Amino acid sequence: MAFKSKIKTIEWVENKSRMIDQTILPKEFKTVDITTTEEMYRAIKDMIVRGAPAIGIAGAHGVALGAIELSKTEKNKEEFLNKLAQKAEYLKSSRPTAVNLMWAVDKQMQLANQTQGSSKEITKALIENGIKLENEDIEINKKMGDYGAEVVPKGAAILTHCNAGALATVGYGTALGVIRSAYAKDPTIKVFADETRPRQQGARLTTWELTQDGIPTTLITDGMCSYFMSKGMIDMVIVGADRIAANGDTANKIGTYTVAIAAKYHNIPFYIAAPLSTIDLNIKSGKEIPIEERNHEEVTHINGDWICAKNVNIINPGFDVTPNELITGIITEKGILKPDYTKSVKSAFNELMHKS
Ligand code: MRU
Repeated sequence: MAFKSKIKTIEWVENKSRMIDQTILPKEFKTVDITTTEEMYRAIKDMIVRGAPAIGIAGAHGVALGAIELSKTEKNKEEFLNKLAQKAEYLKSSRPTAVNLMWAVDKQMQLANQTQGSSKEITKALIENGIKLENEDIEINKKMGDYGAEVVPKGAAILTHCNAGALATVGYGTALGVIRSAYAKDPTIKVFADETRPRQQGARLTTWELTQDGIPTTLITDGMCSYFMSKGMIDMVIVGADRIAANGDTANKIGTYTVAIAAKYHNIPFYIAAPLSTIDLNIKSGKEIPIEERNHEEVTHINGDWICAKNVNIINPGFDVTPNELITGIITEKGILKPDYTKSVKSAFNELMHKS
């Protein structure tokens, strides 16, 4: 069975960036058009668009939108490039953990600085490159799906955390892309989706995506995973990533580390699925990965209602880091990286740099 995901999460349309508003799913399906760098900064920060690869594309579109704005007024090329660089830094400051955002924005700025000609020509090149990155994202996810499907046992029950699906990318997904490819080969596989407090990406987004594709999915709350592992009901774990350090330590949605520890204890394979653009060789280990601290209301409220004592202390990190020794393999578009990650991560990343 050939699978084709119908969802395009973010797309360049008529000089605008069109994206699915993920804050209101699954209640409502609506797209939003973003027309300025400032609007894009807010869309990323407020998680209208979210998921590491998707915010990478949002960043690339954001630079193109900035160039459109500036090319209307800024005729001096040097001034145009200086102001564009400021907009690029502003975009990169919207969310700190997913390195795909920095990767895509830096790629756009490199292109802007290398392109000969006027600000109009640079703008055209940035728009075209944004569209190219969009298309490449889907291709990369499908390659990852092919590699990943090879390690999914027949009839496997796969646990996933957060949403690393079509909604976290342009389409198809990373962890859910692997699940889609595996399901196309073996429709007896099934998925357990962690709810993923506090923003419930698992409940709201992963179950929405997978059930539309007819993939059997069971929603569980975050605390339930070790119970189901102990009952022999989970065969493997596949999650996405926001940043992978040079030694393979991986930042992903808060709660991922707990799942990895539980998987190790129960001897269950734990895989990361991520494009090579999620690797950050400048970061030696997970200890150096910046972790986003999010709004406390995400913890104190559910659907606008207080759920706790009003004077309680709150901490709300958006991500945690899974140490490399808990990771069975990292599924990428170039194959599955295995320990020793210090070597395998570096050589895969260098291959990517060499080709781009
Ligand atoms: O805060 P979010 O929803 O942007 O966090 C998303 C995740 O942690 C995903 O698992 C990760 O970005 C991988 S997406 C392919």
